[in-house]
Amino acid sequence: MDELELIYPSLDMKEDILQYKEEHFKYGDMQVHGTGGLAYYDDLDEWLEHIETIRKGNLDAGIKTSTFFSRRVSDGKLIGCVKLHHSLNEELKNGGHIAYGIRPSERGRGYGIKQLKLILGFAKQEGLTQVIVACDKDNIASAKTAIGCGGISVKEFEEDGVMKQHYLIELKGI
Ligand SMILES: CC(C)(COP(=O)(O)OP(=O)(O)OC[C@H]1O[C@@H](n2cnc3c(N)ncnc32)[C@H](O)[C@@H]1OP(=O)(O)O)[C@@H](O)C(=O)NCCC(=O)NCCS
Repeated sequence: MDELELIYPSLDMKEDILQYKEEHFKYGDMQVHGTGGLAYYDDLDEWLEHIETIRKGNLDAGIKTSTFFSRRVSDGKLIGCVKLHHSLNEELKNGGHIAYGIRPSERGRGYGIKQLKLILGFAKQEGLTQVIVACDKDNIASAKTAIGCGGISVKEFEEDGVMKQHYLIELKGI
């Protein structure tokens, strides 16, 4: 498995981002996980603008949200997408600090854990001491990704008829 690096989305990645998005639909995913709604934007420029705006903290009651692609160092392929809410409010607290996805064709190869470790390092650099990762209780791959990065199950709850879990990850040891 190759190394990953986190990069901010930018217009010069347009073709790669569109392919990344399309691959999800091709595999039957209706969402492009961790991207802050890329699936719902027909215009990539608008999505990039949105990502840039929330990075500065102008949305979600001033909460900053950093969104990255993870790129494979060896060949530059976009492998996953991950976002960090730098803090939480009432509206965001069930969803946790971090959301992530790996492109369908690259799942199950260890990239999910690798990508989560990278964003945890970033979160620590940004001054966070712990983060919450939320996932549906039946999303075993997501739960194991959180657990693989030190996540401890701290809460189970129902939201809109779906059982969810919170994993707490302490950043001290990262
Ligand atoms: C969740 C996701 C990011 C994991 O990424 P990944 O690259 O497939 O994960 P990894 O290969 O790093 O594996 C992480 C752990 O999950 C396990 N795993 C991976 N795919 C699995 C599957 N389909 N079923 C059960 N376990 C699985 C791995 O065995 C590993 O556990 P281990 O360390 O105990 O062996 C990826 O499956 C994905 O994008 N899913 C769709 C989006 C999503 O659900 N996002 C999370 C929303 S909360």
